Amino acid sequence: MTLNARVFAALFHIFACLFLDILEISNGVQSDIDCLKSIKHSLEDPYGYLNTSWNFNNNTEGFICKFTGVECWHPDENKVLNLRLSDMGLRGRFPRGIKNCTCLTGLDLSNNELSGPLPFDIAELVPFVTTLNLSSNKFFGEIPMSLSNCTYLNVLILDHNHLTGEIPPELGHLVRLKQFNVSNNMLSGVVPYFGPNTSITADSFVNNTKLCGAPYLEPCPTPKQRRKFDFSFKGGFQVGYAVSAVSVITIFMFRSHYVACMNYISEFR
Ligand SMILES: *[C@@H]1O[C@H](CO)[C@@H](O)[C@H](O)[C@H]1NC(C)=O
Ligand SMILES: *[C@@H]1O[C@H](CO)[C@@H](O)[C@H](O)[C@H]1NC(C)=O
Ligand SMILES: *[C@@H]1O[C@H](CO)[C@@H](O)[C@H](O)[C@H]1NC(C)=O
Ligand SMILES: *[C@@H]1O[C@H](CO)[C@@H](O)[C@H](O)[C@H]1NC(C)=O
Ligand SMILES: *[C@@H]1O[C@H](CO)[C@@H](O)[C@H](O)[C@H]1NC(C)=O
Ligand SMILES: *[C@@H]1O[C@H](CO)[C@@H](O)[C@H](O)[C@H]1NC(C)=O
Ligand SMILES: *[C@@H]1O[C@H](CO)[C@@H](O)[C@H](O)[C@H]1NC(C)=O
Ligand SMILES: *[C@@H]1O[C@H](CO)[C@@H](O)[C@H](O)[C@H]1NC(C)=O
Repeated sequence: MTLNARVFAALFHIFACLFLDILEISNGVQSDIDCLKSIKHSLEDPYGYLNTSWNFNNNTEGFICKFTGVECWHPDENKVLNLRLSDMGLRGRFPRGIKNCTCLTGLDLSNNELSGPLPFDIAELVPFVTTLNLSSNKFFGEIPMSLSNCTYLNVLILDHNHLTGEIPPELGHLVRLKQFNVSNNMLSGVVPYFGPNTSITADSFVNNTKLCGAPYLEPCPTPKQRRKFDFSFKGGFQVGYAVSAVSVITIFMFRSHYVACMNYISEFR
């Protein structure tokens, strides 16, 4: 699919979500009921927020829209727009059943006890999400590269979890992203560049294991720099290359960027 075809498909999808009743796509509505049933079933709810409010027995038009944390496109139509389940003490894994909420644009699961890895195919579960807030849970593992396919993301909040590894550079392709926070995790490596029109600053990355990279953080040896050195080597400036390599190594030793430095040396060989 070309980009324009994808944009068109997305616009059509949003149109369908808005005018579901006119288009009479009634099985779409059943799918959202299945979605919430599956979420309730898959999450542990020790304080009973969902088991009292999320009652599926009274199956009237738009009944799920009155559930705690559920916001619909229309109040009288079972089609979920936003799901806000923060501060509920919920436990369990990221609920895959959310895939059946096909018109979801906002998901807030912040301040719970959710754990496990984030789904590697998360973009297939929430493809149209514009706000994703998973702040303050116990998610671990890597940030899935798949998030770069959630092309409508404006807000991506992942702070206060146990995420490790690198931030996928592909996240820099999220052109609509305005807010991003991965602070208080255990991330390392190079930080992506998100373009000029964001509110992203060094604050978005604080308290991680070892993140680096301009323009938000201190520079680290990016692949680009390595290629530059490689180029000058091919140019025959061997002495200059050795000197610059040694000074780069020295600088990184002084900044105690030991891991980054070792990475650099292994690349150098
Ligand atoms: C909801 O869950 C709590 C805690 O497990 C339980 O004590 C309570 O009886 C449940 N309420 C209903 C209506 O199922
Ligand atoms: C079902 O929901 C409707 C609308 O919220 C309400 O008027 C009705 O009393 C409910 N019925 C039962 C059996 O709970
Ligand atoms: C979505 O709902 C259908 C029908 O209830 C079910 O078979 C399917 O497993 C659900 N998908 C997910 C990802 O839970
Ligand atoms: C994300 O969730 C946290 C915790 O509930 C909240 O403080 C924060 O304002 C939320 N951020 C956004 C952008 O919604
Ligand atoms: C993004 O979606 C495309 C098309 O569905 C797929 O081919 C690609 O593998 C996905 N990328 C990631 C990183 O998941
Ligand atoms: C950033 O914003 C300016 C002014 O609103 C706009 O002209 C420019 O195209 C935007 N750049 C990107 C990369 O979105
Ligand atoms: C990111 O979250 C941290 C708390 O975890 C907060 O101190 C910081 O201000 C936030 N940064 C942005 C840019 O929202
Ligand atoms: C960084 O972590 C320390 C120790 O856990 C904490 O006291 C501090 O508030 C955190 N800083 C931010 C900006 O979240």
